[in-house]
Amino acid sequence: MISLGANENPLGMPESARRAADAALGAAGRYPDGNGLALKNALATHLDIPAAWLTLGSGSSELLDLAAQVCVEPGQAVVYSQYGFIVYRQATAHAHARGVMVPARDFGHDLDAMLAAVDANTRLVFVANPNNPTGTFIAAADLQAFIERVPANVTVLLDEAYTEYLSPAQSYDSMAWVRRFPNLIVTRTFSKAYGLAGMRVGYAVAQPRLTTLLNARRPRFNVTAPGLAAAQAALGDDAWLAQTYAINTGGRAQLESGLAAMGLRCLQSSGNFVLAHLGDAHAAHARLLARGIEVSLLDNYGLAEWLRISVGLPEQNAQVLDILREGLPA
Ligand SMILES: Cc1ncc(COP(=O)(O)O)c(C=O)c1O
Repeated sequence: MISLGANENPLGMPESARRAADAALGAAGRYPDGNGLALKNALATHLDIPAAWLTLGSGSSELLDLAAQVCVEPGQAVVYSQYGFIVYRQATAHAHARGVMVPARDFGHDLDAMLAAVDANTRLVFVANPNNPTGTFIAAADLQAFIERVPANVTVLLDEAYTEYLSPAQSYDSMAWVRRFPNLIVTRTFSKAYGLAGMRVGYAVAQPRLTTLLNARRPRFNVTAPGLAAAQAALGDDAWLAQTYAINTGGRAQLESGLAAMGLRCLQSSGNFVLAHLGDAHAAHARLLARGIEVSLLDNYGLAEWLRISVGLPEQNAQVLDILREGLPA
């Protein structure tokens, strides 16, 4: 089975991380470092922020959940976008909070409408940049203007799970925003570009007030020793990241142009996946599955006519396009 359904890295995991995880397994009879200090120190250097501003998570999903737990009381409100990553809804439900879903604009976040939706009861706003499953991107200036206008008693969680895939022209310095805004949490993950989805390591960056709350709520040993070691090795593996970026940029263009050539609509994506309008997405999904390729249906987002296809290796992308083409009316 070729998995193009979960936005994983088609290259697998970096060899550097595999070696580090193997070595850590030798000591896995003991508890991991519950503070994850070595990884935090490496991240602090990498991001140029204090290690004390970091919270490690069992994937960034756990941090999204924890953010809702610590920022929102039952009955208070959480704002997110219509096609925002589904975990925002789940985290809101886990916190017994009230979700306020703001209609999308061109499939992306409508930041003006999201701001207008913030009221006295709101305590948290989720924003993904780029977003999954739409791949939509918010320019840095717009995002900064939004964060500036959100009231100080409302936390903004900026989810940057796919930030490593942004082009140099899109890239921005969200760490400068963390230094400036005490109500901002930025989350990132080792699951995507770093190729460690199965290791479950993510991190949140925020000033001490929010970091203290997140760390206090976090399970003490939420990241395993092999996970910590693998993440630290991957973080230092610049060649891996460069190769990942190149494979993704080429593969995404291959999928986008192949879909366009078939007359299929596809949103411009800034992530490692594309959102394609198939019409009968269930039939296309079944056709791909029968040939051993898994992609993602999006009924749970209200996007029943669309498929999310993760960018694979060039030959995998070509296979997807061939199978979709065969299914089109002659
Ligand atoms: C936008 C976004 N945020 C966060 C995550 C969570 O990933 P993980 O828990 O593996 O870090 C994902 C995973 O698909 C995602 O798409």
